[in-house]
Amino acid sequence: FPCELIRNFSIIAHIDHGKSTLADRLLELTGTIQKKEKGMNKQVLDKLKVERERGITVKAQTASMIHPHSGRSYLLNLIDTPGHVDFAWEVSRSLAACQGALLLVDASQGVQAQSLSVFHAARERGLKIIPVLNKIDLPAAQPEIVAAQMQSTFGIDPNDVLQISAKSGKGVESVLQAIIDRIPPPQGNGDDPLKAFLFDSSYDKYRGVISLVSIQSGVLKKGDKITSCYTRKKYDVVDLGIMHPEETSTATLRPGQVGFIACNMKESSEAHIGDTVHHVGAPVDPMPGFKPAKAMVYAGVYPISSSDFPKLEESIKRLTLTDRSVEYARESSSALGQGCRLGFLGSLHMDVFRQRLEDEYNANVIVTAPTVPYKIVWNDDKETYISNPTDFPDAGDKNSWKVKEIQEPVVKASIIVPQDYLGEMMDLCFVHRADDLDHRYLDASGSLDSRILLTCIIPLGEIVMDFFDKLKSRSSGFASFDYEDAGYKTSQLSKMTFLLNGRAVDALALIVHKSAEQEVGRAWVKKLHEVIPRQLFEVPIQAAVGKKIIARETLSAMRADVTAGLYGGHYERKLKHLNNQKESKRLMKKVGTVELPQEAFFSLLKTK
Ligand code: GTP
Repeated sequence: FPCELIRNFSIIAHIDHGKSTLADRLLELTGTIQKKEKGMNKQVLDKLKVERERGITVKAQTASMIHPHSGRSYLLNLIDTPGHVDFAWEVSRSLAACQGALLLVDASQGVQAQSLSVFHAARERGLKIIPVLNKIDLPAAQPEIVAAQMQSTFGIDPNDVLQISAKSGKGVESVLQAIIDRIPPPQGNGDDPLKAFLFDSSYDKYRGVISLVSIQSGVLKKGDKITSCYTRKKYDVVDLGIMHPEETSTATLRPGQVGFIACNMKESSEAHIGDTVHHVGAPVDPMPGFKPAKAMVYAGVYPISSSDFPKLEESIKRLTLTDRSVEYARESSSALGQGCRLGFLGSLHMDVFRQRLEDEYNANVIVTAPTVPYKIVWNDDKETYISNPTDFPDAGDKNSWKVKEIQEPVVKASIIVPQDYLGEMMDLCFVHRADDLDHRYLDASGSLDSRILLTCIIPLGEIVMDFFDKLKSRSSGFASFDYEDAGYKTSQLSKMTFLLNGRAVDALALIVHKSAEQEVGRAWVKKLHEVIPRQLFEVPIQAAVGKKIIARETLSAMRADVTAGLYGGHYERKLKHLNNQKESKRLMKKVGTVELPQEAFFSLLKTK
C-alpha cells in the first residue's frame, strides 16, 4: 500500500459513547472480523474480556482493515487510544500516530467532559476531525440539539456531522467513506532512515512485550537491529506485521503503516508510549514532546495476614509486567508489616489494579489512603518529592526549619453539568480548595437544560479520594469530569499522625491542608474509635499535627468477666481474680501496645 492509499485514524469519545461498538462495526463491515451471532468474533471477544478486566486500555481495537473505494483498495488503520482520564497524556501521544480522528458523541448525552479533552488533544495535533453522532436509534436521542452543541463548543459545521447507530449499523458505511474522503494520507519516505513511533504495547507471556508502532519513514524488516531513543536499549526484530485484526506477520512495515513488532523485550517498562525507534547506527531526531508516564497517586499495599507477603509480592510483580505504568517498591510499616508502595497514574488506575489483584490472584489486601507526590523545597532550593506521608517532615521536627516551602500537584479540572447543578458543583469545588473557578454555557441557546462547562484549578490530592463519587451523587449522575496536569503550587500542608495510647501508627499518617486539619482529624479519630476493638485498658485515640493534638476520642476499657465460671459465694477467690485483672491491666498500660488488628485497618480504609 503506497501512502496515498493508507488512512490512520482514531476513535475518540467520552466513556460509554460507543467507541468499542463502532470499532466492531467497522471491522465487520470491512470483513476484518466475521459477524457472529452476538455480533462479535470470538477472538475479539477474548481480547475484550481481558480489556474489560483491565478496564482501562483497549488493546483489541488497534486494527488494520482493507476497504475498497472507487475501484481501489485502501488500508485503514484504526489506532486505539486508552480510554480514561488517568491516561489523558497517553491518549494525546497515541494520537500522534494518526492523521484524523472520529469524534464520537452520544446523541442522547451530548458533549461530555472527555469529549472536550479528547477533541482538544486531537486538534492540538492538527488532526482532521470527523464529528459523529452515535446512538441515534435511542428515543432520547436529540441529534439536532447535540449537533448545535458541537457547533457552539467545537466550531463544527452541523452539515459535517454524521449520524449513526453503531448498535444497529445504521450509517456506519458513511463513516468509512468519510475516513477515506476527509482524512489526509500519511506522509513518509521509504528511502529515509527508519523512524518508528511507539504508541502502544502489550505483554505476551511467551514473546515478551509486543509494541505497536507507526512508521514515519524508512522500512522495518524482520531481523533488523533497532534501538530506542529514550532507553537506548538495543533489540533484534523477531517478528513484525499488521493487526488484521490479530497479529498477522508481514515481511516489512513501510512508511504510513501501523503494525506490531516483537523484539524480545522482557519488561513492559521498557516500552514507553511516545518513544521513537530507529535502526542501530542510523540515529534520527526523536518525535517531539516525549516524556515517560509518571505516577501521580501512591498507596501502600499490604497483605491482610503478614505471612502472605511473598505471595502478594509475586502477584504484584506479575501484574506490573502487563501494566507498564505501575511503579513498584517495597516498604514496611510497624503497624502492617512488610508491604509494597505502588505508584499509579491516577485513582481509577489504582482501583483497577487493586481489583485485578483481588480477582486474578485472590489477594485480599489493605490499601492505605492514596497520596500524591508532594514537593519539598529546601532553603538551599533543592527539591525532594515525597510520595509517602511517613517521609514528610513533621511540624517542629529537627529538619523542619530547613523547609522553605511545600508544594502540591494541581490539575485543571473541567466539569460539564446541566445548569441546575451549577451551584452544587461550585460548592463541591470550593470545599476541595479549588481556585480560578470559571464557567460558561456550552449551548448557544441558554435553554433550561443547558449544559455548563465549569473549569478550575484544584489540588490533585483533593480529587484522589472520593471526589468523583461526590461529583456524581451531587449532580444526580449528570456531571462528567476530566482533568489535566497543571504543575505545582505552594500550599499550607502538614503531616497528621494518629496516636493509639500515645504511639503513632505509621500506616495511618496523612498529609492535610491547614484549613482541613480539624475536620479530618475529628473524622478519622471517630472512625478509628468505631473500628478498634476495646482493650483491657482505656485507650486514647488522638490526631496530631507535630506536637499539637487536634482531636481525641477515648476507647473505654473492656472489663473481661474474669469471674465468670466461679460459682457460689467464694468471695475471696473472685476478689483475687479481679485484683489479678487490675494488675495485668496496669502492666499492659505500661507496655502500652495497642494491637490494631488488620481487620480494623481494612474496614477503616474501606469505609473512607
Ligand atoms: P468505554 O470502553 O467504557 O469507553 O465505552 P465505549 O465508548 O467503548 O462504549 P461501548 O461501545 O462499550 O458502548 C457503551 C454502551 O452503549 C454499550 O452498552 C453499547 O451497547 C451501547 N451502544 C453503543 N452504540 C450504541 C448505539 O448506536 N445505540 C444504542 N442504543 N446503544 C449503543
